[in-house]
Amino acid sequence: MFAVHLMAFYFTKLKEDQIKKVDRFLYHMRLSDETLLDIMARFQAEMQKGLGKDTNPTASVKMLPTFVRAIPDGSENGEFLSLDLGGSKFRVLKVQVSEEGKRNVQMESQFYPTPNEIIRGNGTELFEYVADCLADFMKTKELMQKKLPLGLTFSFPCKQTKLDEGILLSWTKKFKARGVQGTDVVRSLTNAMKRHQDLDVDILALVNDTVGTMMTCAYDDPYCEVGVIIGTGTNACYMEDMSNIDLVEGDEGRMCISTEWGAFGDDGALEDIRTEFDRELDLGSLNPGKQLFEKMISGLYLGELVRLILLKMAKAGLLFGGEKSSALHIKGKIETRHVAAMERYKEGLANTREILTDLGLEPSDADCIAVQHVCTIVSFRSANLCAAALAAILTRLRENKKLVRLRTTVGMDGTLYKIHPQYPKRLHKVVRKLVPNCDVRFLLSESGSTKGAAMVTAVASRVQAQRKQIDKVLALFQLTQEQLVGIQNKMRVEFECGLKKDTHPLATVKMLPTYVCGMPDGTEKGKFLALDLGGTNFRVLLVKIRSGRRSVRMYNKIFAIPLEIMQGTGEELFDHIVQCIADFLDYMGLKGAQLPLGFTFSFPCRQTSIDKGTLIEWTKGFKATDCEGEDVVDMLREAIKRRNEFDLDIVAVVNDTVGTMMTCGYEDRNCEVGLIAGTGSNMCYMEEMRNIELVEGDEGKMCINTEWGGFGDNGCLDDIQTQYDKEVDEGSLNPGKQRYEKMTSGMYLGEIVRQILIDLTKQGLLFRGQISERLRTRGIFETKFLSQIESDRLALLQVRRILQQLGLDSTCEDSIVVKEVCGAVSRRAAQLYGAGLAAIVEKRREDQGLEHMRITVGVDGTLYKLHPHFSRILQETVKELAPQCDVMFMLSEDGSGKGAALITAVAKRLQQAQREH
Ligand code: BG6
Ligand code: BG6
Ligand code: GLC
Ligand code: GLC
Repeated sequence: MFAVHLMAFYFTKLKEDQIKKVDRFLYHMRLSDETLLDIMARFQAEMQKGLGKDTNPTASVKMLPTFVRAIPDGSENGEFLSLDLGGSKFRVLKVQVSEEGKRNVQMESQFYPTPNEIIRGNGTELFEYVADCLADFMKTKELMQKKLPLGLTFSFPCKQTKLDEGILLSWTKKFKARGVQGTDVVRSLTNAMKRHQDLDVDILALVNDTVGTMMTCAYDDPYCEVGVIIGTGTNACYMEDMSNIDLVEGDEGRMCISTEWGAFGDDGALEDIRTEFDRELDLGSLNPGKQLFEKMISGLYLGELVRLILLKMAKAGLLFGGEKSSALHIKGKIETRHVAAMERYKEGLANTREILTDLGLEPSDADCIAVQHVCTIVSFRSANLCAAALAAILTRLRENKKLVRLRTTVGMDGTLYKIHPQYPKRLHKVVRKLVPNCDVRFLLSESGSTKGAAMVTAVASRVQAQRKQIDKVLALFQLTQEQLVGIQNKMRVEFECGLKKDTHPLATVKMLPTYVCGMPDGTEKGKFLALDLGGTNFRVLLVKIRSGRRSVRMYNKIFAIPLEIMQGTGEELFDHIVQCIADFLDYMGLKGAQLPLGFTFSFPCRQTSIDKGTLIEWTKGFKATDCEGEDVVDMLREAIKRRNEFDLDIVAVVNDTVGTMMTCGYEDRNCEVGLIAGTGSNMCYMEEMRNIELVEGDEGKMCINTEWGGFGDNGCLDDIQTQYDKEVDEGSLNPGKQRYEKMTSGMYLGEIVRQILIDLTKQGLLFRGQISERLRTRGIFETKFLSQIESDRLALLQVRRILQQLGLDSTCEDSIVVKEVCGAVSRRAAQLYGAGLAAIVEKRREDQGLEHMRITVGVDGTLYKLHPHFSRILQETVKELAPQCDVMFMLSEDGSGKGAALITAVAKRLQQAQREH
């Protein structure tokens, strides 16, 4: 008995001495609670830095957005391929998720080797190798004939702007293939797969292993919102609030962030705790100066740290009687699995002796105890550091959720965590000590990260299917060059039909003579009144023209025309107009002045002289009764008479296109076309008298108001008309009429957008499938909103705000889709305008027998003026369709009132000249 006690005493003493010795030697590696709390605080600051837009570029902890937005909800299903590259083992898998509504995942997998010459060779060859392994797997599993989506677990830092793209920021751990850094690995692998013609695989998602792990664990435990790897390398990801992620647009919901905490300290932030051994290890690594935190923690480095310490201790005579073996000098001779074996509870000491002996050393009992303790200190420090950083993440999660206590689950994986006998316990204990206000469950990912990667791929594949549906709708609005040429040609035919006497009565493009025969020559002068009715605003103007200097002064007032008047009786409408005139005269102090008046009336009128215009039919938002078939000048005169307060000399009635052409023609004599892209759509141009069969005489030119808005009313545009166009038409004041106008002008574009949005919502692709009352409301998308939504300068968040103002509660994804819909609709409109305009300029060029023609188009209208892309696309289309015409676009700054006054001035001069003869 006595001997036994003596032995025990001897051993305890020996152990104490050795432990003290090692503790003294590795004093710097033992981190106090205080230090750990300090490191935790530093990591919190690092996370903040990585998340900020301005601070991210210089942050060492990159906080990479992963574009994974939600944890699995059980609705995922399908069959997927998966690759798992970057950990200690490379695997190819087939994953079957949830058949027949059961939460059930089945996997078949195959490991492939990753020889150094492949992972440190040429990048192209690395990806070709990966593709070869995939092809081999598919052949063995007889999957070649299937088209399966693939999720790629790629355990290196990648910058993502979407789920299926990842620019490798730098290799870490054992990998160092050339020419890959800074390139998209998804694309490289896709390219490599092309060599296998029978391989038809779509890479839908790239995920980091931490993300895969988190998702794997979250499939079983919905509280899981953190993923940690402590394996060859180390890293963590967690679900961050979108509002805190500056680098990704949108502020709603959460997104998983891969912290890449391995790089913590790369900017010197951990120098105070790094030891000479850390520095020596770093210098001998593949990536010196990089991943400094990882090098203190992860499996690839722990054994090496132990080796460097043992070597130093032996040299100092503290171990092995000062003897060193040659094996102890060789890099990598001690691996993490050795460290784990040496720290085993019971067999640890025996293992230590065996491992040291294998290294050619002759350890004493004391040496074995000391070496075991070295291992403990090194691996304990690793667990401590991981715990500090993880505690920082947990605190962040708790603060994001504004909770006093957080209950959460952390998904764990990695060989160090899995095979080291003490590691998990130590880690858990320290985490709980550092964050006492978090109840943490640590859940080991049994099936690696691929199950989670398959979940992400499943969601991506659902999103892709939805995307296809959206694209299908948008494609209806895309016109090919061929189609545009076809439309241009048809428009040309309609022009000719409208101009010819025998085809005119049935023509849908009416080609109305305007009796405006010349451009102002600069000699016009005097004071005129002008009315401008039919666009967004109704204005009354006073225009003072001074001769010689081509200068015009204008005073105007905008008046509202209430809907009940626009759609009431004709008498009410004209009485209202006269009321507005009276107000204006009053306001200008012109009561009683009998001024000549030009009436811009932006509706189709049949004219027999400049001061006569019979309204053919209302268009746009007007529908006053008893006006169609009546002369609008007469109606205005009668209303003035009814009021019996003043008299006016109505000299001219002009369409807004004509007014616009004149306004611009006053500055540029080359302006022979007037274009309106506003509430309505129309164009006028100067035509040779000989071509106008409806008006006598062959000399000179006359302006023709094409009223091209009616193009297509004979069905000639049916092939490009969509169901949405039909719906808009049916809901309009004039069904079946003005089909071209309804595809192109401001009053209808928003309505087309609304119809598409309703349909997409019905299909469950928008607004969570809920059609709100607001969305059912006609006219909510005015031109100004469309223009705002499509502005390039606008961030997604602002788009969302506009939609919210419109009463549409959208997510950021919704906002992207809405913006795309607006883009498709307005683009088609601009292209259709371009085709129409190309038809007229080409006609003019041919009529004049010119090889090349220069011409100016005067333009007005809110769509043209406000929309960020409309004018550019219109101009580009004209250039493509009428390459022999040099078309200049001139924006009418002063509206068509000025032009109407100029026409009035010319008409007045002609009237006087006639009277004098
Ligand atoms: C595996 C995962 O279980 O763990 C991998 O499937 C991951 O995606 C790996 O990279 C990490 O551990 P190690 O030790 O293999 O690097
Ligand atoms: C104005 C003109 O500038 O533009 C009007 O003065 C014209 O005559 C109008 O009708 C067209 O644009 P909108 O967008 O107001 O219909
Ligand atoms: C390295 C990689 C990181 C990965 C980790 C664990 O730190 O940079 O992306 O998650 O190893 O495998
Ligand atoms: C409508 C009218 C037309 C007008 C155009 C632009 O198409 O019918 O006369 O020019 O709108 O306002």
